[in-house]
Amino acid sequence: MDRQSIVFLGSGNVAHHLATHLHEAGHTIRQVYSRTLIHAQALAAMVGSTAIDDLSHLDKEADIYIMVLADDQVQPVAEQLDLGDRVLVHTSGSLPESVLAGGSSNYGVLYPLQTFTQSKPVDFSKIPVFIQGNNAATLEKIRKIAATLSPAVHHITDEKRLHLHLAAVFVNNFPNQLYAIAANILSRQDLPFDLLRPLIDETTAKVSTGQPADQQTGPAKRGDQGVMEQHLALLEGHEDYRELYRLFSRIIQSEAVSKGSE
Ligand SMILES: NC(=O)c1ccc[n+]([C@@H]2O[C@H](COP(=O)([O-])OP(=O)(O)OC[C@H]3O[C@@H](n4cnc5c(N)ncnc54)[C@H](OP(=O)(O)O)[C@@H]3O)[C@@H](O)[C@H]2O)c1
Repeated sequence: MDRQSIVFLGSGNVAHHLATHLHEAGHTIRQVYSRTLIHAQALAAMVGSTAIDDLSHLDKEADIYIMVLADDQVQPVAEQLDLGDRVLVHTSGSLPESVLAGGSSNYGVLYPLQTFTQSKPVDFSKIPVFIQGNNAATLEKIRKIAATLSPAVHHITDEKRLHLHLAAVFVNNFPNQLYAIAANILSRQDLPFDLLRPLIDETTAKVSTGQPADQQTGPAKRGDQGVMEQHLALLEGHEDYRELYRLFSRIIQSEAVSKGSE
């Protein structure tokens, strides 16, 4: 394996997982920058690195610089870097690669398609990683480092990555919010969310093998108007939930109709 020396800019959720996995894979984490020194220090201690909170102390001799900042901060911070031709990447699902052009002449993207929170371990070997580079040599360097994280490395474009990110919001962030709503509905009846876990597991298992639209069941799919009215009555006083319920039911019904007419 080609061992690389890496600087992390950011020390949040993605930084935590990427830095620890790259460190375990044998790369050297030269430095961790964060605007909050104790956050940089916590991550640096885990990966045998040093921490800084001042960009004027940035080590300019690393092979690759990985920006894992809040999306809105990537371009402004990149513009302060002055890395010459050192490889600079971001990990965002939605930012174009060109937001890094002010930081280096060689830049690209290393986007791991997974939800990361610091406290939950992840198996990187199961995470697809999407890469871009602004020239062939940079892309190859990014491909090599991505391959030490995951066997599933895919070259992508800005536009396709943005669509992937949009789809990811629909399968991850929105269902997660729906779970929170369900937990709230149950807690009002002193029922634990645990009762729903087998249903959630089965729904996930079904979509892992089949097409989601083919797996739909429930009152909206069946056209059970009376049941839907009862549900809406239970949501009295929660106008947002009622609106969501009506909207989802309408989409399920219209997709069932258009599928039937195929
Ligand atoms: N989390 C995911 O599931 C996920 C998945 C794939 C890709 N990504 C991408 O990975 C990147 C990092 O996301 P994340 O979830 O790791 O974010 P995060 O946990 O919120 O961490 C964000 C980092 O940005 C720093 N930061 C925020 N505002 C800043 C500012 N004004 N100036 C300087 N630094 C600032 C934070 O510093 P402090 O420590 O001081 O707050 C922190 O180090 C984003 O581009 C995101 O789109 C995230």
